[in-house]
Amino acid sequence: MAFANLLPLESWWPPSAAGILLALTALYAFALYLSSRKLDPREPEVVAPAVPLVGHVLGMAIFGGRYVKNLGIRRPDLPIFTLPVPGSRLYIVTDPGLAAAVQRAPRALSFLPLVPELTRRVLGLDAASVAIARRRIDDDLDLPATTAAAGPPRARGFLTDIQDMVTAQLAPGAYLGRLSLRAARDLRDEIGTWRATALDPPHRPAAARADLLAWVRGLVTRSTARSLYGARNPVAADASLADAFWDFDGGLGGLLAGVWPAATARRAHAGRERLVAALETYLARGEHLTGDEAEDGPGCSAIVRRRVAIALAHGWALGAVAREELSFLFAGIVNATTTAFWVLAHAYADAALLAAARREVEAALEPAEEEGGGSRRRLSIAALRDRCPALAATYRECLRLGSDTYSTRLVREDTLLAGRHWLRRGAVVQVAGGVMHADARIWGADAAAFDHRRFLEGPEAEAKKRNKNKVHPAAFRAFGGGKTLCPGRHFATNEILALVALVVLQFDARAPDGGPIEVPRKNDGVLPVHVLEPVRPVEVVISERADGFAAGGLDVEFVL
Ligand code: HEM
Ligand SMILES: *[C@@H]1O[C@H](CO)[C@@H](O)[C@H](O)[C@H]1NC(C)=O
Repeated sequence: MAFANLLPLESWWPPSAAGILLALTALYAFALYLSSRKLDPREPEVVAPAVPLVGHVLGMAIFGGRYVKNLGIRRPDLPIFTLPVPGSRLYIVTDPGLAAAVQRAPRALSFLPLVPELTRRVLGLDAASVAIARRRIDDDLDLPATTAAAGPPRARGFLTDIQDMVTAQLAPGAYLGRLSLRAARDLRDEIGTWRATALDPPHRPAAARADLLAWVRGLVTRSTARSLYGARNPVAADASLADAFWDFDGGLGGLLAGVWPAATARRAHAGRERLVAALETYLARGEHLTGDEAEDGPGCSAIVRRRVAIALAHGWALGAVAREELSFLFAGIVNATTTAFWVLAHAYADAALLAAARREVEAALEPAEEEGGGSRRRLSIAALRDRCPALAATYRECLRLGSDTYSTRLVREDTLLAGRHWLRRGAVVQVAGGVMHADARIWGADAAAFDHRRFLEGPEAEAKKRNKNKVHPAAFRAFGGGKTLCPGRHFATNEILALVALVVLQFDARAPDGGPIEVPRKNDGVLPVHVLEPVRPVEVVISERADGFAAGGLDVEFVL
């Protein structure tokens, strides 16, 4: 070896204890330097990890979403900061104004390029389908927002096609109305069936004990699957498939991490594969071709039919389409369920709030129009949104408190955000909803507590508000923002308000000891892939209303 004699090996080998210490200290100092330096003087302040290089990754792996949230809460002086991670940077945005700036730069800061890899991991998509999903992503980023008016049509990518269609279908309008009515009807029937089986005793009022979240999950899973996929939906085939759905949900973080998921996220993986098989059977039988635009029959919804048609047109195989549909079923069920749970828990925990919500909803009930309608009542979904302020404010407050969501973007080119903050190409920007939702400067000193009154409007309520200033529109993050604003938010609102109205109109709910429900705090020690769940289950005893309202059941006909 030519260089061997340049290193007088015997002089430092074996190394002394002092030598080892010196080497380790130098290594540590170098790692520390690497994890705290800025790549550009204008780069956002670097928050160095406690353990150099890998500290932030470890923190996120061990503490879940709470880790970054707490970093943000501890540094209210920083509207954006840099977290160095091996090989890259994470930029964390905690200021509503900067969040809006991120949303205004969808070309440079884009979610779309991240989607193929995320869906590959979570849904287990095959390489050919992922390759199709990657096609034309760059072209699509250059398309103006309104493609229809922008000259001759051009071929577009799969993701853009699906996203545009879903967003258009679920925007306020006739179709959203029909789908919302269908969902409300399905929820009414689902609750009616539960009532008839669980509360059908010789003596009234009857009562049934339940885990509130599990109870809501059952109702929403079955009724949403029916609303979107029809009476012969993939979950209806076998009651255990609804459990498979929640197994999948519970291990989503493990699937996302993507390290040997068949072992590390075994239950989630198994649940997913069972659902995919059921969805594939559903598609192979052509069930998605049943149903119509009116959404009043037992068949598949038009929006699902269009999704399947787009995927097939882009060359996806049926097995891959089944996986893509699992993601839609998931989007339709998971957040609506947990949000409805929180609204019910808070409503039944506070007698005054429950009474106010009931007063509003009862006032919105109208006699049915048709002859011989008997005990049938009409309930308008618009009235639930617009004429039930305590109910609607409770819903928004539950979303604020329950959602620690991150809006994620890839930095596609070196970018100067808001003219000031330099972001490096290839890094990832995350808008930290959990930090903003906990910010006392936005929501008032009691930001950590539940108080629906902060979302009330009008002069009377204004006096009760903690924060007289107007809340920045980008500070409420439950539905994301910009290009990744949830397209299902109007549908979700209609569906959740309908569900909560049906329950508070018909039932009382108490803790098993007869007292009011106590609302646990949320479990923020997981990756916030959805609205967060409670740290412990909420056991309830559900019974017919003691005051006799709706005794024997309520026959509601929903209208828009
Ligand atoms: C309270 C209930 C809901 C909440 C809090 C919620 C929240 C969100 C958020 C934050 C995103 C953006 C995710 C991201 O940035 O990566 C999203 C995406 C999405 N949501 Fe919702 N959502 C809810 C209900 C629904 C419902 C009921 C549907 C469908 C019927 C739905 C359909 C979707 C779809 C399809 C996407 C993906 C959009 C895309 O990638 O283009 N959501 N939702
Ligand atoms: C559900 O809501 C959470 C919190 O707002 C969000 O992070 C997540 O992306 C949503 N998931 C879906 C599938 O809509």
